[in-house]
Amino acid sequence: MREFFPLIAVGAVVGVLAIIFLVAYLTMKNKKEAIGFDRNMDDGELVRRLLKYAKPYTGQFLLVLGLMVFSIAYDIISPLIIGNIEEMIKADFEMKRLFAMVAVYASILVISLICSYFQAIILQRTGQRIVSNIRDDLFVHIESLSHAQLNSIPVGKLVTRVTNDTNAISMMFTNIIVNLVKNCFIILGVLTAMLCLNYGLTLMVLCFVPFIVLFTVIFRKFSRKAFRRVKDGTTDINTFLSEHLSGMKVIQIFNREQHKKAQFDAKNAALGKAKRQQIFVFGIFRPTVYMLYMSSVLCLLYLSGRGYIRDVEFLGQTIGSGTLVTFYMYISKFFNPIQSLAEQFNWLQSAFASAEKIFTIFDIAPEVVDEEDAIELEKVEGRIEFKNVWFAYVGEEWVLKDVSFTVDARSTVAFVGSTGSGKTTILSLIVRNYDIQKGQILIDGIDVRRIKISSLRSHFGQMLQDVFLFSGTIRSNILLHKDGVSDEEVMEACRYVNADKFIAKLTKGLDEEVRERGNNFSAGQRQLLSFARTVIHKPEVMILDEATANIDTETELLIQDSLEKMMNIGTMLMVAHRLSTIQHADNIIMLSHGEIIEQGSHSELLAKRGKYYELYTLQSDKARLMGK
Ligand SMILES: Nc1ncnc2c1ncn2[C@@H]1O[C@H](COP(=O)(O)OP(=O)(O)OP(=O)(O)O)[C@@H](O)[C@H]1O
Ligand SMILES: [Mg+2]
Repeated sequence: MREFFPLIAVGAVVGVLAIIFLVAYLTMKNKKEAIGFDRNMDDGELVRRLLKYAKPYTGQFLLVLGLMVFSIAYDIISPLIIGNIEEMIKADFEMKRLFAMVAVYASILVISLICSYFQAIILQRTGQRIVSNIRDDLFVHIESLSHAQLNSIPVGKLVTRVTNDTNAISMMFTNIIVNLVKNCFIILGVLTAMLCLNYGLTLMVLCFVPFIVLFTVIFRKFSRKAFRRVKDGTTDINTFLSEHLSGMKVIQIFNREQHKKAQFDAKNAALGKAKRQQIFVFGIFRPTVYMLYMSSVLCLLYLSGRGYIRDVEFLGQTIGSGTLVTFYMYISKFFNPIQSLAEQFNWLQSAFASAEKIFTIFDIAPEVVDEEDAIELEKVEGRIEFKNVWFAYVGEEWVLKDVSFTVDARSTVAFVGSTGSGKTTILSLIVRNYDIQKGQILIDGIDVRRIKISSLRSHFGQMLQDVFLFSGTIRSNILLHKDGVSDEEVMEACRYVNADKFIAKLTKGLDEEVRERGNNFSAGQRQLLSFARTVIHKPEVMILDEATANIDTETELLIQDSLEKMMNIGTMLMVAHRLSTIQHADNIIMLSHGEIIEQGSHSELLAKRGKYYELYTLQSDKARLMGK
């Protein structure tokens, strides 16, 4: 009986640990995380969708599987060779046989290393290609979303989906799946080899397996929570950063640095804590599995030591020194994959969570889409008609109420009205940035919903209230990737809208660098560039949402002049805050709270002495006062 004490002691230690972990597992609160993300898609669906991306690379994956056989062979054969060497040294030692065995060992090792190298290279390449395809598709999908849909998703969240989440998927293809398969094969192979060699010792090793399974289940629960916290924390910080980096100037102007820092600190600390928890969970799990491994090695040494020295049989089999050496190596080869299997399942879960987040974005069906039989417009005359249009951004909060008006081809129509009255909304409905709820919008007598969106927008030039310039050069911002336009034509467009003078003063001219959002140009210059950008695309209908930014008198005169020129290009729809700008318009539509209250030409409206007259006299008085 005394002989079994060491084994019982090991069993007791493992048992106590198991009980402690079980208690921790059972008492762990199952409360819902505040910023948690609930999985809705089942794993099968995710795998199916992911496999669609992997399918074109089936050949590469099969090749990797083939190469894997060689690298696994090393894990299974090498302990046997070492064991044989040990047996040979003990029995009748022959230098020649030793050399032969070492040579076999070395060649298997070299082959396995070469295979592992190619396996890694092929996998990395394939994985990166798959992920780059997913990223591409995701970007194209985001491009297809409507303004309303884009407004509803924070930019930081989208950035995280395209970067972090696709990375998690890349890990899955390059690392996780292959290692999962490889580890399963190694475990099976090693187990078979051990059973053939000595079933008694194999049984002893297998006694530890239930504990490993138990610890793994417990570990997965803790680690899943930690993983989720890290993910949510990352998204949270990215969302906060992308918004606040854009708004940093406002933060500085209003001295809110401390306040914002405190908010950032909180998010940063949350992410740090989540990462620490993740490390802690791994920090407990890895040594625990290592302890199980060491315990089984101790048992092996004890059992085989007794068997070898005292010639005691264990479960009817004697144990030689070769078996001892081989088993010693097999045990580590058996435990390593088990430990990494558990970890890989975690990474897989995390990759699935990322995949689900990405597919959730893919599943947002674009709201504003072409009808099946939508038509292309060859040419647009520029007759625009609103027929009893009702529109709300949200629910039933009507922003436009029963709006009807007609814009004749090649005429100029101006929209005026107080802020929030719906001017920008009208302009964005014409190019179908949003779909209306009731009524009809007709272009040359055709409902906008019947026209292909890309075709519709190609005939319209829009100059928006807030000009957006991309980082690049002046040329790239004017052209926006339009091909086949010479520098002379670009300069001509610039001359047309009076942007040529300030461009001429820049050292690099059209090649002058434009920084993010065009922050190295003045508001007026940005406006002129957006005019040039519109004119070069030669639209038949121009839409201008005038910014009321402080533009100096000189630039204002330039803008005024270019506007008058642009009115001759085709139909022009404009929002103007300075009524002086629109006196020559053919029709002026006055809006109030989403309804048309007056319309007519400048002189007609003045004669009416209504709201427009009030506004006009107010502005003229102000101008006179300022002039004094
Ligand atoms: N994306 C949006 N989501 C929800 N409501 C919106 C959105 N954009 C505008 N609104 C609301 O619609 C109304 C009309 O806005 P719109 O931008 O058309 O006004 P506007 O006449 O162009 O004003 P301004 O002269 O200030 O540019 C406003 O009450 C505004 O709150
Ligand atoms: Mg507006």
